[in-house]
Amino acid sequence: METTLYTAPDATGHFGPYGGAFIPEILHPAFEALRAAWDKAREEEAFWAEWRTLLNNYVGRPTPLSPAPRLSAHVGRRVYLKREDLCHTGAHKINNTVGQILLARRMGLTRIIAETGAGQHGVATATVCARFGLPCIVYMGAEDVERQHLNVLRMRLLGAEVRPALSGSQTLKDATNEAFRDWVANPDDTFYCIGSVVGPHPYPEMVRTFQRVIGEEVRAQLLAAEGRETPDAVFACVGGGSNAIGIFHPFVNDAGTALYAAEAGGEGLDARHAATLSKGSPGVLHGSLSYLLQDESGQVTLPHSISAGLDYPGVGPEHAYLHDLGRVRYEAVTDEEALAGVRLLAQTEGILPALETAHAVSLLKRVAPSLPEEAVCVVCVSGRGDKDMGTIAARLHLDDA
Ligand SMILES: Cc1ncc(COP(=O)(O)O)c(C=O)c1O
Repeated sequence: METTLYTAPDATGHFGPYGGAFIPEILHPAFEALRAAWDKAREEEAFWAEWRTLLNNYVGRPTPLSPAPRLSAHVGRRVYLKREDLCHTGAHKINNTVGQILLARRMGLTRIIAETGAGQHGVATATVCARFGLPCIVYMGAEDVERQHLNVLRMRLLGAEVRPALSGSQTLKDATNEAFRDWVANPDDTFYCIGSVVGPHPYPEMVRTFQRVIGEEVRAQLLAAEGRETPDAVFACVGGGSNAIGIFHPFVNDAGTALYAAEAGGEGLDARHAATLSKGSPGVLHGSLSYLLQDESGQVTLPHSISAGLDYPGVGPEHAYLHDLGRVRYEAVTDEEALAGVRLLAQTEGILPALETAHAVSLLKRVAPSLPEEAVCVVCVSGRGDKDMGTIAARLHLDDA
């Protein structure tokens, strides 16, 4: 990594061997149209000006890079928090959603579909659809409909239709299957707004492009705060991997910045988990080649995480590549460690993180002692914890206090 400039993906959407586009015949024209529209839009200043205006005036960017004095004292290294929890709707997902919906409008597509796990991408999509008066259908695993109920109510109030996915583990994988099925049935008028750096080319690179704003802002904000653009270490959680890629990618060619990603260790790596890179192997899911939790015959195995947004048996293809290159270090963080991470951030900094985010906080605590004493760390606070209060209250026995 020190000598080779990182330039992935190639023109066909490959990150090394990973990525590509494994799509059904019937969706070929829709994908051709999507690629052509994206290639055109990304070159146009007017497209980015519209996106930027919405991010500033509607989403609330730039989000702060907050010094975290009491968390720093606790972990023994200097820590800044990148506050994506302060984005409108409460998570980073809306950076991408604004971009994709603007693209859909340019393409003249009038019906928006999305999948969601934690409900944050669903809420972000429903929000931007309401802003532009577009009908929105969100697929969500039936288990997630239960555990992220607040977000289901938010989506309905925003005018979206939430369709529960009843197959498989009734979580994010199954919601994504249903969304693809819908698209296959309605390729002519429908835009599929994917919520992470997953799916067939061009989604992983397109979503990355919209989420890179996180890391780009960190560079500018750190320069103002510390007189240097690059931190020593960056931490993020990984479900599909969009907040992690968003904050990591602007630092990928900076060899002095270590990149750490927390995936869902669930109940432990010998029990139920969603630790795709720690325990998975290459395979195709949802249209691209990446790491996957699967059995010997290639059947996807059921993942588990306390956090709906990390409860996914795959991961974006760029993460598979960065893993193999050794450029990002991926570590599993268990449900219990994540709960401890929620409490830690709440009680040191007065910030209630999403359960997804708490995995990154917990990984910071684990890794900090191995970093140089003067190290400056940045943690991506991908979202706020309101949606998880039911689960957190039950697991931390908050009613008994
Ligand atoms: C707050 C939050 N963080 C992280 C994630 C994981 O998604 P990704 O890995 O694409 O950032 C989600 C997914 O729903 C989320 O809601």
